[in-house]
Amino acid sequence: MAPSDPWWKEAVFYQIYPRSFADSDGDGVGDLAGIRARLPELAWLGVDALWISPFYPSPMVDFGYDISDYCDVDPQFGTLEDFDRLLHEAHALGLRVIIDWVPNHTSDRHPWFVDAVSGRASAHRNWYVWRDPTPEGSPPNNWVAAFDPSAPAWTFDEPSGQWYLHLFESAQPDLNWDEPAVVEAMHQVLRFWLDRGVDGFRADVVHCIGKDPGLPDDPGSVAGIPHCALNDVPVTHRRLREIRNLVDGYPGGRVMVGEVFLLSTRAVATYYGDGDELHLAFNFPPLFAPWQEGHWTECIERTVAALDPRAAWPTWVLSNHDNPRHRSRYDRAAAFLGEAEETTEARSEPRARAAAVLLLTLRGTPFLFQGEELGLLDASIPPDRQVDPGGRDGCRAPIPWNGRSDHGWPSVNGRQPWLPFPPESFRNHEDQRADATSMLHLYRRLIAVRRRAPALSRGGFDLLELPDGLLGFRRTMGDEVWVVVVNFTDHRIDHVRQPPVGDGWRLVVSSNGLGEGAPFDGTIGPDQAVVLTG
Ligand code: GLC
Repeated sequence: MAPSDPWWKEAVFYQIYPRSFADSDGDGVGDLAGIRARLPELAWLGVDALWISPFYPSPMVDFGYDISDYCDVDPQFGTLEDFDRLLHEAHALGLRVIIDWVPNHTSDRHPWFVDAVSGRASAHRNWYVWRDPTPEGSPPNNWVAAFDPSAPAWTFDEPSGQWYLHLFESAQPDLNWDEPAVVEAMHQVLRFWLDRGVDGFRADVVHCIGKDPGLPDDPGSVAGIPHCALNDVPVTHRRLREIRNLVDGYPGGRVMVGEVFLLSTRAVATYYGDGDELHLAFNFPPLFAPWQEGHWTECIERTVAALDPRAAWPTWVLSNHDNPRHRSRYDRAAAFLGEAEETTEARSEPRARAAAVLLLTLRGTPFLFQGEELGLLDASIPPDRQVDPGGRDGCRAPIPWNGRSDHGWPSVNGRQPWLPFPPESFRNHEDQRADATSMLHLYRRLIAVRRRAPALSRGGFDLLELPDGLLGFRRTMGDEVWVVVVNFTDHRIDHVRQPPVGDGWRLVVSSNGLGEGAPFDGTIGPDQAVVLTG
């Protein structure tokens, strides 16, 4: 890495959803000690950094994204000392750790809101967004909350006769970032964790910390779309520059990765500023893209076109805790976008393998979601076990660590994990680790090659002109040249040997494991991806 290059440009991130990762005490909910015990597995996989979703005290209406104390650990997850130990041991293994920072809203049980709701004259009243009713007594504007297109983003507080804003659940009131004391308090949260040694943050819906001061109605053309996916106003950029300054004031290159949930890549790109706002922002279109060559080419071209190479480093993500896992999506293929139904069960594994090749060789920082390295499908959740207000339980199923009946989740008094396990119990860490042909080993090989060959992370990038159904690109650094080709079709394609791929080229990683280390014969099987070098 060039000395001036920050670590997060080359790093592979791994998202941990702590409730579902690993449980140390048998209460059916994962915890920090559970994560700590599994750090060696993560180091073995080869990832560089962990992003841990919220573990702070919370009433768990939104499973931790409703925080009642930003500077502590929920007893379900452990203690601050457990966090310090986890951080220390991760660092000792060479793993960096970033944590979730949820600046847009608190829990309604946060002492700030408890005070705010106690009366119009309370000290924290202006820490939240309050408005009088319209003359007709309705909410102040037409904004829609997340999770339920029929729900207004406002809740009426009878005693004070005012509405308060919540872009998510009513139990998640929005903070008022126009109030300087809020800005200071939320900066203080960053300092609290930076002082403890975290390597950065994933900033939850961070594009929402600025609101248009007039709180105007959303246009009718976007009716039913939650306001959190539309909110995009100039003042947020000034706030992000202040946050960037704070974070960059700490030694060691801390990072701020923003969840900017706007689906236009061009709009998201503005949140990098001139290299003075977010260090990284999630690039979500690939997470929604069906497994089709045209859609993927478009995602890649848009990313390249939208991100100014001097200021903005791309990111790639296939799955996270908010959306169906990509293997489940590829099972349903085009149906996911409301297009024609197509059953592709047998193809979802090879497709997910090929997607892993893309994720780990495109130019930018990849983010893995726990369990994708095992090729997990979403769990099917019976109605009586559904718990998430946003219907996202399936992708949050507990990680199966082994093939035994408890899957490595200890149980006290017969207690089951908080959600059912995913299907296909052979897809567990232990068995896949023992099988060199597994998805887990594919991820490990890809991460290892990426580390050996900086061209694959930091190198130049250009798309290749290839026959229909193939997507390919070249990665270069000095005289090192790599080519990645993905066959999106259901048939074998021969003679993939146009320049720069020529005689003497080797197949270094193959998504199905076949032919690795051998000279490349110009053939790519159905749903196969290959990583080649000359
Ligand atoms: C983000 C989180 C999601 C949460 C929401 C509200 O989108 O990823 O899980 O429900 O913000 O905090």
